[in-house]
Parts: sequence; structure tokens; C-alpha cells
Amino acid sequence: MKRIVLFASGSGSNVENIVKYFTGHSDITISCVLTNKRDAYVIDRCNKLGVPAFYFNKAGFTNSPLVLELLKCIKPDLIVLAGFLLKIPSELVEAFPRKIINIHPALLPKYGGKGMYGRHVHTAVKARGESETGITIHYVNEHYDKGAIIRQFKVGISEEETVDQITTKVQFLEQIHFPQVIEDLLLGR
Ligand code: GAR
Repeated sequence: MKRIVLFASGSGSNVENIVKYFTGHSDITISCVLTNKRDAYVIDRCNKLGVPAFYFNKAGFTNSPLVLELLKCIKPDLIVLAGFLLKIPSELVEAFPRKIINIHPALLPKYGGKGMYGRHVHTAVKARGESETGITIHYVNEHYDKGAIIRQFKVGISEEETVDQITTKVQFLEQIHFPQVIEDLLLGR
């Protein structure tokens, strides 16, 4: 059985979608969800889904080997950042080469980097008057949103569309494609 560990900081709609997608899967299982936000809605979702969720604070992540040691025990085949907002420390990147992936709600390299997350991204896309946006699934390295791109998916947008409408379109792409790309990676497809 291949093991996934999910990292999330927020609402957890991607976590829920990924957990549901792999429930009952013959080859892939979700080991647990890790979050750096004690009150993140993702924890409520995990409670409802029956998935173990663990909270760690920033100190346990960046200044101590706590999360790293936990991951070494679990031995995940893939670590998936699903709306996780902290930078991944270099020790973790080095310990899991090409085993950490992230989803970003725009077409990188555009609209990436520190501070570019969630609604901020869609607001910037709208402000620039872009005619398309999308999602990028990429490997994680020491720099925000700079790792090698695995897959991108696009959607057209018009000038009249609001930030909320753009958000909905991008979330739809995430729901459709993210679990599938994870499965492809784990099954070597
Ligand atoms: C998702 O749209 C994800 O692409 C984005 O945060 C949202 C989390 O939503 N990630 C980033 O912006 C990373 N820079 P969720 O908590 O409902 O899955």
C-alpha cells in the first residue's frame, strides 16, 4: 500500500476531495493530515471523515526535527501540500526528494511566491485582466512555488468575471484533477 501524508492550513476542500477519492483504493491510502493551524476547518473535515489529523506549531516545524521525525516513522510515498502555507524547511526537502508536491491556484511561474495564496492569487489575476488562469501541480523545493512543474490545467476567464467566479473555476479544476495527478504519480503512470 502506498502512503500519502497531506499538509493543509485552511479550509481543507482539497483534503476532503483527496480523502474521498482514495477511500477504498486498492493501492493507495491516506496516513494522516498535518496542519499548522489549530483552528483550521480542515480539522473538522478530518473528524467527519475519520482521518487522523495532527497539529504542530511553527516552532515544531522550522526549529525542531519533530515533523521530520514523524514523517520518517510514517515513511510516506508522497507528501501532498493541499493549501499549506508555510515554507517547507530544507531538511524536509532533502529527506524526501521528489516526494513532496504542492498545488498552486494559478499558472506558475505567474502569480507565485511568498504571499501569493488563495484569494490573493485570484485578485491579482483579475487585476491584470488575464484571459486565462488555472492550476499548477509541482514538486516542492526550498523556494516558494519554484519546484519543477508536474502538470498544469487552464481555464478561460473574461473581464466581467468576479474574483469569486474565478475562485470557483479554479477550485473546480482542483477538484477534478488533483487526486488524479496524485494517483498517476504514485502508480507511475
Ligand atoms: C487552494 O486553492 C490551493 O490551491 C491554495 O489554497 C487553497 C486551499 O483551499 N494553495 C495556495 O494558494 C498555495 N500557495 P482548501 O483549503 O479548501 O483546499
